[in-house]
Amino acid sequence: MSQSKRHFEEFQPHSKHKHLILQQYFLAWGHKLGLRPGAGTLILYVDACAGRGQDDLGNHGSPLIAAVAAAVAQESVGSRRETPFQIHVVAIEANRAHYESLARLLSPFGSKVTVLHGTLQERTGELEGRFPDTPTLTFIDPFGLDPLRSEVVRRSMSGDKNEALLLFADQAALRHFGAIAAEETRAERRHREAANPLPLFPGLAADGIDDLASAAVESREALDITRESALRIMNAAFGDDTWLAVVEQAPQTLRRRALIDLYSARLRTWGATFTLRVPIVDSSSVHAYTLIHASKSPKAYVTMKEAVSYALEHSPLPQNVVEHMRELVRSDLDSVERAVRRQFAGTTIRWAENTQDRLAPCVRRFVLETTEAYPFELDELKARLQPMKLPGRSIIYAFPPE
Ligand SMILES: C[S@@+](CC[C@H](N)C(=O)[O-])C[C@H]1O[C@@H](n2cnc3c(N)ncnc32)[C@H](O)[C@@H]1O
Repeated sequence: MSQSKRHFEEFQPHSKHKHLILQQYFLAWGHKLGLRPGAGTLILYVDACAGRGQDDLGNHGSPLIAAVAAAVAQESVGSRRETPFQIHVVAIEANRAHYESLARLLSPFGSKVTVLHGTLQERTGELEGRFPDTPTLTFIDPFGLDPLRSEVVRRSMSGDKNEALLLFADQAALRHFGAIAAEETRAERRHREAANPLPLFPGLAADGIDDLASAAVESREALDITRESALRIMNAAFGDDTWLAVVEQAPQTLRRRALIDLYSARLRTWGATFTLRVPIVDSSSVHAYTLIHASKSPKAYVTMKEAVSYALEHSPLPQNVVEHMRELVRSDLDSVERAVRRQFAGTTIRWAENTQDRLAPCVRRFVLETTEAYPFELDELKARLQPMKLPGRSIIYAFPPE
């Protein structure tokens, strides 16, 4: 059965976990962009690999989650501002049958949702023409790496309020790298060993060698095709072929990390100022993929951390798996604490935002916006900073000079 068919029979718990992150982020994104000073009247969500919209059991998929969240956020933002506000959802799906099911499913949302058949690559120009200068969140959630083309990702990041949430299929990237780096196929090795037998083993009969030789040639042809398509997919994702030398130099156990580091660095050259990587593991605690959020604002970065923390609190995955995932995203609190002490050395400063003066610096915002710490780590950090706390009910610290 194909990956696609299995996926839409019943979303696996780690897909539902991903959906929780998306739903939380999406609601908050609508509110934040709709209520910020100088907000425009329209924002856009593009679901670039939208799928069927739900699984066979009726669990909501990303475009349906987005359409519902858009309606909720639009309603609540609209009631709090005087100018009109709209969140438009565009769902793009390449598979004709999926596209048709999705179009039927989303039809009750009327003109607020557009469902398109095709790929983001094919539709980008049309969307840029139809929604010029519109703050856009693009979600690219493919099977594998093929749809993650550098030029479309770069274009999706182009506006100053644009951001992207991408599923980086790092396991697939490692497999592609393996195909590219493979020097000898198994059949070639068998042929070489038979043609040059070690002294302890008798040589094979000539016709046996011939069979092995033709198997070796066939496997070489297959490998060349695999290698060629792996190179094409990886070069298209990274934008050129310079990634290969970097990954080749990385020790084998660090290659996945090297791929993610490189891809995050690419996102920064394509316009992102903040990137957050969120490893997702399946119900057996096996790494599935990495979600990468690429944004241009500290608020978006913090909001995504909050969405990730929320999903860890409400995850359908088994508790031990959730704890594993929490450990994977946890920051190095020693270095966070050092950064806080350095930043606020010799000053007296509040922990939380001052509601009378929201722009005044505070420790909490500094930590979330400029370090890797997540909201669920803040209590531990507060405990570490306790010796600097001044007496009183509010949390105010006096940091010693460095
Ligand atoms: C992982 S599924 C998407 C699941 C969906 N985002 C969700 O969370 O419910 C990937 C979907 O992308 C579609 N797809 C594959 N390549 C595509 C491309 N280049 N452009 C758009 N869709 C693509 C597949 O047909 C499949 O339906």
